[in-house]
Amino acid sequence: MTTEPPQFPFHRECPFTEPHIYTESRAEQPVRGIRMVDGRPAWLLTRYEDVRAVLNDRRFSSDKSAPDYPVFVVGQKEGLDKSERFMVNMDGEEHAAARRAVISEFSTRRIAALTPHIQQSVDTAVDNLLASPRPADLIRSVAMPVPSMLTARLVGIDHTDYDRFQNLTSRSVRHDISAEERVRFAEELREYMDSLVAAKVEHPGDDLLSRQIAQQRRERGEVDVAGLSSLAVLLMIAGQETTTDTIALGVLALLSEPDQLAELAADPGKVPLAVEEILRYFSVLDFGPPRLATADVEVGGVLVRAGEGVVANVYAANRDSSVFTDPGALNVNRANARSHLAFGYGPHQCLGANLVRHELRIVFETLIRRVPGLRLAVDFGELKFKNKGLIYGVHELPVTW
Ligand code: HEM
Repeated sequence: MTTEPPQFPFHRECPFTEPHIYTESRAEQPVRGIRMVDGRPAWLLTRYEDVRAVLNDRRFSSDKSAPDYPVFVVGQKEGLDKSERFMVNMDGEEHAAARRAVISEFSTRRIAALTPHIQQSVDTAVDNLLASPRPADLIRSVAMPVPSMLTARLVGIDHTDYDRFQNLTSRSVRHDISAEERVRFAEELREYMDSLVAAKVEHPGDDLLSRQIAQQRRERGEVDVAGLSSLAVLLMIAGQETTTDTIALGVLALLSEPDQLAELAADPGKVPLAVEEILRYFSVLDFGPPRLATADVEVGGVLVRAGEGVVANVYAANRDSSVFTDPGALNVNRANARSHLAFGYGPHQCLGANLVRHELRIVFETLIRRVPGLRLAVDFGELKFKNKGLIYGVHELPVTW
Protein backbone atom coordinates (compact mmCIF):
# COMPACT_ATOMS: atom_id res chain seq x y z
CA MET A 1 0.00 0.00 0.00
CA THR A 2 1.37 3.41 -0.91
CA THR A 3 0.61 6.32 1.41
CA GLU A 4 0.14 9.87 0.17
CA PRO A 5 3.08 12.11 1.06
CA PRO A 6 2.07 14.52 3.84
CA GLN A 7 1.18 18.11 2.98
CA PHE A 8 3.91 20.61 3.90
CA PRO A 9 4.41 22.96 5.76
CA PHE A 10 3.86 21.33 9.14
CA HIS A 11 3.08 23.81 11.87
CA ARG A 12 4.33 23.77 15.44
CA GLU A 13 1.52 22.38 17.57
CA CYS A 14 3.29 23.68 20.65
CA PRO A 15 5.20 26.98 20.37
CA PHE A 16 8.43 25.60 21.84
CA THR A 17 8.27 22.03 20.52
CA GLU A 18 9.01 20.80 17.03
CA PRO A 19 6.17 19.09 15.12
CA HIS A 20 6.41 15.40 16.02
CA ILE A 21 6.57 14.54 12.32
CA TYR A 22 10.06 16.10 12.22
CA THR A 23 11.22 13.96 15.13
CA GLU A 24 9.79 10.82 13.50
CA SER A 25 11.17 11.69 10.07
CA ARG A 26 14.67 12.28 11.41
CA ALA A 27 14.62 8.85 13.06
CA GLU A 28 12.94 6.84 10.32
CA GLN A 29 12.89 8.73 7.01
CA PRO A 30 15.27 11.69 7.16
CA VAL A 31 14.79 12.38 3.43
CA ARG A 32 11.05 11.97 2.94
CA GLY A 33 8.55 12.81 0.23
CA ILE A 34 6.15 15.69 0.95
CA ARG A 35 3.61 17.63 -1.04
CA MET A 36 3.88 21.40 -1.28
CA VAL A 37 0.89 23.82 -1.11
CA ASP A 38 0.57 23.84 -4.90
CA GLY A 39 0.40 20.04 -4.94
CA ARG A 40 3.91 19.50 -6.29
CA PRO A 41 6.05 16.82 -4.67
CA ALA A 42 9.34 17.65 -2.94
CA TRP A 43 11.83 16.11 -0.49
CA LEU A 44 11.97 17.17 3.15
CA LEU A 45 15.36 17.00 4.89
CA THR A 46 15.37 16.89 8.69
CA ARG A 47 18.89 15.81 9.65
CA TYR A 48 21.56 18.41 10.38
CA GLU A 49 24.15 16.69 8.19
CA ASP A 50 21.86 16.44 5.12
CA VAL A 51 20.54 20.01 5.47
CA ARG A 52 24.08 21.37 5.69
CA ALA A 53 25.29 19.27 2.76
CA VAL A 54 22.49 20.44 0.44
CA LEU A 55 22.82 24.11 1.38
CA ASN A 56 26.52 23.87 0.61
CA ASP A 57 26.09 22.03 -2.71
CA ARG A 58 25.96 24.19 -5.84
CA ARG A 59 24.03 21.49 -7.70
CA PHE A 60 21.02 22.72 -5.73
CA SER A 61 19.66 25.92 -7.24
CA SER A 62 18.11 28.93 -5.46
CA ASP A 63 16.44 30.26 -8.62
CA LYS A 64 12.84 30.70 -7.50
CA SER A 65 11.65 31.58 -11.00
CA ALA A 66 11.95 27.90 -12.02
CA PRO A 67 8.40 26.51 -12.37
CA ASP A 68 9.09 23.50 -10.12
CA TYR A 69 10.72 25.49 -7.33
CA PRO A 70 9.06 24.53 -4.01
CA VAL A 71 6.70 27.17 -2.57
CA PHE A 72 5.36 27.34 0.99
CA VAL A 73 2.52 29.83 0.58
CA VAL A 74 -0.13 30.06 -2.13
CA GLY A 75 0.69 33.05 -4.34
CA GLN A 76 4.31 33.14 -3.15
CA LYS A 77 5.56 33.28 -6.72
CA GLU A 78 3.62 36.48 -7.28
CA GLY A 79 4.69 39.81 -5.88
CA LEU A 80 8.26 40.23 -4.83
CA ASP A 81 9.56 36.90 -6.01
CA LYS A 82 8.28 37.29 -9.54
CA SER A 83 9.37 40.78 -10.39
CA GLU A 84 12.71 40.99 -8.60
CA ARG A 85 16.22 39.70 -9.06
CA PHE A 86 17.39 39.21 -5.51
CA MET A 87 20.80 37.76 -4.69
CA VAL A 88 19.07 35.16 -2.51
CA ASN A 89 17.46 33.77 -5.70
CA MET A 90 20.62 33.77 -7.82
CA ASP A 91 23.07 30.96 -8.48
CA GLY A 92 26.75 30.56 -9.25
CA GLU A 93 28.87 33.47 -10.46
CA GLU A 94 25.92 35.87 -10.72
CA HIS A 95 25.19 35.30 -7.03
CA ALA A 96 28.86 35.48 -6.00
CA ALA A 97 29.29 38.83 -7.80
CA ALA A 98 26.15 40.30 -6.23
CA ARG A 99 27.29 39.20 -2.77
CA ARG A 100 30.89 40.39 -3.25
CA ALA A 101 29.66 43.85 -4.21
CA VAL A 102 28.01 44.40 -0.84
CA ILE A 103 29.85 42.16 1.62
CA SER A 104 32.09 44.94 2.98
CA GLU A 105 28.94 46.61 4.36
CA PHE A 106 28.70 43.75 6.87
CA SER A 107 32.35 43.74 7.94
CA THR A 108 33.41 43.86 11.60
CA ARG A 109 34.49 47.47 11.08
CA ARG A 110 31.10 48.54 9.71
CA ILE A 111 29.24 46.68 12.45
CA ALA A 112 31.41 48.39 15.06
CA ALA A 113 30.61 51.74 13.46
CA LEU A 114 26.88 50.96 13.72
CA THR A 115 27.10 49.97 17.40
CA PRO A 116 26.37 53.42 18.91
CA HIS A 117 23.38 53.74 16.62
CA ILE A 118 22.03 50.29 17.58
CA GLN A 119 22.48 51.04 21.28
CA GLN A 120 20.72 54.37 20.86
CA SER A 121 17.80 52.75 18.98
CA VAL A 122 17.45 50.10 21.67
CA ASP A 123 17.61 52.70 24.46
CA THR A 124 14.95 54.82 22.72
CA ALA A 125 12.74 51.75 22.30
CA VAL A 126 13.20 50.78 25.97
CA ASP A 127 12.48 54.40 27.05
CA ASN A 128 9.24 54.21 25.07
CA LEU A 129 8.38 50.87 26.66
CA LEU A 130 9.00 52.21 30.18
CA ALA A 131 6.97 55.35 29.44
CA SER A 132 3.96 53.45 28.13
CA PRO A 133 0.98 52.27 30.17
CA ARG A 134 1.20 48.73 31.50
CA PRO A 135 0.73 46.17 30.08
CA ALA A 136 2.54 47.06 26.85
CA ASP A 137 3.18 45.06 23.71
CA LEU A 138 6.92 44.37 23.56
CA ILE A 139 6.68 43.78 19.82
CA ARG A 140 5.31 47.23 19.05
CA SER A 141 7.64 49.02 21.43
CA VAL A 142 10.91 47.11 20.97
CA ALA A 143 10.96 44.07 18.67
CA MET A 144 9.55 45.89 15.61
CA PRO A 145 11.16 49.33 15.79
CA VAL A 146 14.72 48.24 16.60
CA PRO A 147 15.37 46.18 13.41
CA SER A 148 13.40 48.68 11.38
CA MET A 149 15.52 51.61 12.61
CA LEU A 150 18.65 49.61 11.85
CA THR A 151 17.65 48.80 8.26
CA ALA A 152 16.56 52.39 7.74
CA ARG A 153 19.96 53.56 8.97
CA LEU A 154 21.78 50.99 6.83
CA VAL A 155 20.17 52.05 3.56
CA GLY A 156 20.03 55.73 4.52
CA ILE A 157 16.33 56.46 5.07
CA ASP A 158 15.78 59.85 6.59
CA HIS A 159 13.98 59.85 9.94
CA THR A 160 11.23 62.07 8.48
CA ASP A 161 10.37 59.26 6.07
CA TYR A 162 10.67 56.54 8.66
CA ASP A 163 6.95 55.99 9.36
CA ARG A 164 6.17 55.50 5.68
CA PHE A 165 9.05 53.07 5.39
CA GLN A 166 7.89 51.11 8.43
CA ASN A 167 4.36 50.92 7.04
CA LEU A 168 5.56 49.64 3.66
CA THR A 169 7.79 47.04 5.30
CA SER A 170 5.14 45.61 7.57
CA ARG A 171 2.59 45.37 4.74
CA SER A 172 4.87 43.67 2.27
CA VAL A 173 5.75 40.84 4.68
CA ARG A 174 2.13 40.09 5.65
CA HIS A 175 0.80 36.61 4.91
CA ASP A 176 -2.94 37.16 5.36
CA ILE A 177 -3.29 38.91 1.99
CA SER A 178 -4.38 37.93 -1.49
CA ALA A 179 -1.99 37.42 -4.39
CA GLU A 180 -3.25 40.73 -5.90
CA GLU A 181 -2.51 42.63 -2.69
CA ARG A 182 0.90 40.97 -2.53
CA VAL A 183 1.68 42.30 -6.01
CA ARG A 184 0.36 45.78 -5.19
CA PHE A 185 2.30 46.08 -1.90
CA ALA A 186 5.43 44.81 -3.61
CA GLU A 187 5.02 47.42 -6.34
CA GLU A 188 4.58 50.22 -3.80
CA LEU A 189 7.65 49.11 -1.94
CA ARG A 190 9.57 48.89 -5.17
CA GLU A 191 8.51 52.41 -6.19
CA TYR A 192 9.57 53.74 -2.81
CA MET A 193 13.00 52.14 -3.10
CA ASP A 194 13.42 53.34 -6.72
CA SER A 195 12.79 56.90 -5.59
CA LEU A 196 15.14 56.46 -2.61
CA VAL A 197 17.97 55.28 -4.90
CA ALA A 198 17.27 58.11 -7.35
CA ALA A 199 17.49 60.61 -4.47
CA LYS A 200 20.80 59.08 -3.31
CA VAL A 201 22.21 59.45 -6.84
CA GLU A 202 21.54 63.19 -6.58
CA HIS A 203 22.37 63.65 -2.90
CA PRO A 204 24.66 60.91 -1.59
CA GLY A 205 24.98 60.37 2.16
CA ASP A 206 26.94 58.15 4.53
CA ASP A 207 25.03 54.92 3.90
CA LEU A 208 25.14 51.61 2.07
CA LEU A 209 23.22 52.78 -1.01
CA SER A 210 25.37 55.87 -1.47
CA ARG A 211 28.54 53.79 -1.19
CA GLN A 212 27.16 51.28 -3.72
CA ILE A 213 26.36 54.14 -6.10
CA ALA A 214 29.91 55.53 -5.79
CA GLN A 215 31.38 52.04 -6.29
CA GLN A 216 29.31 51.40 -9.42
CA ARG A 217 30.25 54.79 -10.88
CA ARG A 218 33.94 53.99 -10.29
CA GLU A 219 33.77 50.46 -11.66
CA ARG A 220 31.34 50.74 -14.58
CA GLY A 221 30.70 54.41 -15.06
CA GLU A 222 26.94 54.14 -14.48
CA VAL A 223 24.47 53.30 -11.73
CA ASP A 224 22.17 50.26 -11.82
CA VAL A 225 19.18 51.90 -10.12
CA ALA A 226 16.92 48.85 -10.48
CA GLY A 227 19.61 46.53 -9.04
CA LEU A 228 20.23 48.80 -6.05
CA SER A 229 16.53 49.18 -5.45
CA SER A 230 16.22 45.37 -5.36
CA LEU A 231 19.10 45.20 -2.90
CA ALA A 232 17.39 47.70 -0.59
CA VAL A 233 14.12 45.73 -0.79
CA LEU A 234 15.95 42.49 -0.02
CA LEU A 235 17.74 43.91 3.02
CA MET A 236 14.47 45.20 4.33
CA ILE A 237 12.49 42.04 3.75
CA ALA A 238 15.28 39.72 4.93
CA GLY A 239 16.08 41.72 8.04
CA GLN A 240 12.79 42.91 9.48
CA GLU A 241 10.39 40.13 10.43
CA THR A 242 13.13 37.58 11.11
CA THR A 243 14.76 39.82 13.70
CA THR A 244 11.48 41.03 15.22
CA ASP A 245 10.31 37.46 15.75
CA THR A 246 13.64 36.32 17.17
CA ILE A 247 13.61 39.16 19.71
CA ALA A 248 10.01 38.49 20.76
CA LEU A 249 10.39 34.71 21.01
CA GLY A 250 13.73 35.09 22.76
CA VAL A 251 12.23 37.35 25.42
CA LEU A 252 9.31 34.96 25.84
CA ALA A 253 11.63 31.96 26.20
CA LEU A 254 13.78 33.73 28.80
CA LEU A 255 10.72 34.85 30.78
CA SER A 256 9.63 31.21 30.77
CA GLU A 257 13.05 30.15 32.15
CA PRO A 258 13.62 32.47 35.15
CA ASP A 259 16.74 30.60 36.33
CA GLN A 260 18.45 31.06 32.98
CA LEU A 261 17.33 34.69 32.86
CA ALA A 262 18.82 35.24 36.33
CA GLU A 263 22.12 33.73 35.14
CA LEU A 264 22.29 36.21 32.28
CA ALA A 265 21.44 39.11 34.61
CA ALA A 266 24.24 38.02 36.94
CA ASP A 267 26.73 37.60 34.11
CA PRO A 268 25.96 39.61 30.93
CA GLY A 269 29.07 38.03 29.38
CA LYS A 270 26.84 35.00 28.80
CA VAL A 271 24.41 36.90 26.55
CA PRO A 272 26.26 36.23 23.23
CA LEU A 273 26.00 32.44 23.74
CA ALA A 274 22.38 32.82 24.85
CA VAL A 275 21.66 34.66 21.58
CA GLU A 276 23.05 31.70 19.59
CA GLU A 277 20.88 29.34 21.61
CA ILE A 278 17.77 31.45 20.99
CA LEU A 279 18.56 31.49 17.26
CA ARG A 280 18.96 27.69 17.31
CA TYR A 281 15.95 27.02 19.46
CA PHE A 282 13.45 28.98 17.39
CA SER A 283 15.06 29.05 13.90
CA VAL A 284 12.35 31.46 12.78
CA LEU A 285 12.79 30.78 9.05
CA ASP A 286 11.38 27.46 10.02
CA PHE A 287 10.28 25.74 6.80
CA GLY A 288 13.26 26.15 4.56
CA PRO A 289 15.25 27.19 2.76
CA PRO A 290 14.02 25.39 -0.35
CA ARG A 291 16.22 24.37 -3.28
CA LEU A 292 15.82 22.74 -6.71
CA ALA A 293 18.18 19.93 -7.77
CA THR A 294 19.92 20.65 -11.09
CA ALA A 295 21.56 17.19 -11.23
CA ASP A 296 20.92 13.73 -9.79
CA VAL A 297 22.39 13.85 -6.27
CA GLU A 298 22.34 11.29 -3.48
CA VAL A 299 21.26 12.84 -0.18
CA GLY A 300 21.12 10.76 3.00
CA GLY A 301 20.87 7.54 0.97
CA VAL A 302 18.04 8.83 -1.30
CA LEU A 303 18.54 9.72 -4.96
CA VAL A 304 17.20 13.22 -5.56
CA ARG A 305 16.76 13.65 -9.31
CA ALA A 306 17.46 16.75 -11.37
CA GLY A 307 14.36 18.97 -11.39
CA GLU A 308 13.11 17.80 -7.98
CA GLY A 309 12.49 20.23 -5.13
CA VAL A 310 14.11 19.93 -1.71
CA VAL A 311 13.25 21.62 1.58
CA ALA A 312 16.41 21.91 3.69
CA ASN A 313 14.64 22.44 6.98
CA VAL A 314 16.98 24.37 9.26
CA TYR A 315 14.59 24.23 12.20
CA ALA A 316 14.47 20.43 12.15
CA ALA A 317 18.26 20.34 11.66
CA ASN A 318 18.69 22.52 14.74
CA ARG A 319 16.72 19.97 16.77
CA ASP A 320 18.93 17.05 15.70
CA SER A 321 20.07 15.26 18.86
CA SER A 322 23.15 13.85 17.12
CA VAL A 323 24.52 17.42 17.14
CA PHE A 324 22.69 19.15 20.01
CA THR A 325 22.23 17.25 23.27
CA ASP A 326 18.67 17.45 24.57
CA PRO A 327 17.73 19.72 21.63
CA GLY A 328 14.17 20.41 22.84
CA ALA A 329 15.49 22.26 25.91
CA LEU A 330 16.62 25.88 25.87
CA ASN A 331 20.08 25.97 27.41
CA VAL A 332 21.84 29.33 27.44
CA ASN A 333 25.09 27.57 28.34
CA ARG A 334 25.02 25.18 25.36
CA ALA A 335 28.67 25.15 24.28
CA ASN A 336 28.03 24.36 20.60
CA ALA A 337 24.94 26.57 20.14
CA ARG A 338 26.82 28.59 17.51
CA SER A 339 26.85 25.56 15.20
CA HIS A 340 23.15 26.15 14.51
CA LEU A 341 21.89 26.55 10.95
CA ALA A 342 19.33 29.30 11.67
CA PHE A 343 21.24 31.58 9.28
CA GLY A 344 21.45 28.85 6.63
CA TYR A 345 24.80 27.52 5.45
CA GLY A 346 27.10 27.70 2.43
CA PRO A 347 27.10 30.33 -0.31
CA HIS A 348 23.78 31.91 0.68
CA GLN A 349 24.39 31.94 4.44
CA CYS A 350 22.73 35.03 5.88
CA LEU A 351 24.65 38.12 4.88
CA GLY A 352 23.33 39.99 7.90
CA ALA A 353 24.23 37.25 10.41
CA ASN A 354 26.96 39.06 12.33
CA LEU A 355 25.04 42.30 12.33
CA VAL A 356 21.94 40.54 13.72
CA ARG A 357 24.00 38.74 16.35
CA HIS A 358 25.33 42.08 17.50
CA GLU A 359 21.89 43.68 17.46
CA LEU A 360 20.34 40.81 19.43
CA ARG A 361 23.09 40.92 22.04
CA ILE A 362 22.48 44.64 22.59
CA VAL A 363 18.69 44.13 22.76
CA PHE A 364 18.82 41.29 25.32
CA GLU A 365 21.60 42.81 27.40
CA THR A 366 19.79 46.19 27.56
CA LEU A 367 16.38 44.72 28.37
CA ILE A 368 17.83 42.54 31.13
CA ARG A 369 19.77 45.48 32.62
CA ARG A 370 17.14 48.20 32.28
CA VAL A 371 13.90 46.27 32.85
CA PRO A 372 14.80 43.74 35.55
CA GLY A 373 11.17 43.21 36.57
CA LEU A 374 10.00 42.36 33.04
CA ARG A 375 7.32 39.69 32.99
CA LEU A 376 4.51 38.35 30.86
CA ALA A 377 1.23 40.21 31.43
CA VAL A 378 -1.06 37.41 30.22
CA ASP A 379 -1.15 33.64 30.62
CA PHE A 380 1.15 31.87 28.21
CA GLY A 381 -1.88 30.05 26.78
CA GLU A 382 -3.43 33.32 25.60
CA LEU A 383 -0.56 34.16 23.26
CA LYS A 384 -1.22 33.78 19.55
CA PHE A 385 1.59 32.38 17.47
CA LYS A 386 2.15 32.83 13.74
CA ASN A 387 1.13 29.54 12.30
CA LYS A 388 0.54 30.80 8.80
CA GLY A 389 3.44 32.09 6.85
CA LEU A 390 7.11 31.80 6.19
CA ILE A 391 8.51 33.11 9.45
CA TYR A 392 7.59 31.87 12.90
CA GLY A 393 6.75 34.27 15.70
CA VAL A 394 4.17 35.59 18.13
CA HIS A 395 1.65 38.24 17.09
CA GLU A 396 1.70 40.23 20.33
CA LEU A 397 3.75 39.98 23.50
CA PRO A 398 1.96 41.81 26.36
CA VAL A 399 4.45 42.50 29.14
CA THR A 400 4.57 44.39 32.40
CA TRP A 401 7.40 45.25 34.85
C1 HEM B 1 17.27 36.66 13.12
C2 HEM B 1 17.37 37.27 11.95
C3 HEM B 1 17.68 36.57 10.65
C4 HEM B 1 17.60 35.26 10.30
C5 HEM B 1 17.13 34.08 11.18
C6 HEM B 1 18.03 35.15 8.93
C7 HEM B 1 18.11 33.96 8.23
C8 HEM B 1 18.57 33.85 6.93
C9 HEM B 1 18.70 32.60 6.20
C10 HEM B 1 18.31 31.22 6.71
C11 HEM B 1 19.21 32.90 4.98
C12 HEM B 1 19.59 31.89 3.88
C13 HEM B 1 18.54 31.78 2.79
C14 HEM B 1 18.88 30.72 1.76
O1 HEM B 1 19.84 29.97 1.93
O2 HEM B 1 18.15 30.63 0.78
C15 HEM B 1 19.41 34.33 4.91
C16 HEM B 1 19.90 35.01 3.82
C17 HEM B 1 20.06 36.38 3.77
N1 HEM B 1 19.87 37.27 4.81
FE1 HEM B 1 19.23 36.83 6.67
N2 HEM B 1 18.36 36.40 8.47
C18 HEM B 1 18.17 37.30 9.48
C19 HEM B 1 18.40 38.67 9.44
C20 HEM B 1 18.95 39.36 8.37
C21 HEM B 1 19.28 40.78 8.36
C22 HEM B 1 19.11 41.73 9.52
C23 HEM B 1 19.75 41.05 7.11
C24 HEM B 1 20.25 42.37 6.52
C25 HEM B 1 20.29 43.51 7.10
C26 HEM B 1 19.74 39.82 6.35
C27 HEM B 1 20.13 39.71 5.06
C28 HEM B 1 20.18 38.53 4.35
C29 HEM B 1 20.57 38.47 2.95
C30 HEM B 1 20.98 39.64 2.06
C31 HEM B 1 20.49 37.11 2.59
C32 HEM B 1 20.82 36.50 1.23
C33 HEM B 1 22.27 36.08 1.19
C34 HEM B 1 22.65 35.41 -0.11
O3 HEM B 1 21.78 35.00 -0.86
O4 HEM B 1 23.85 35.29 -0.34
N3 HEM B 1 19.25 38.81 7.15
N4 HEM B 1 19.02 34.90 6.13
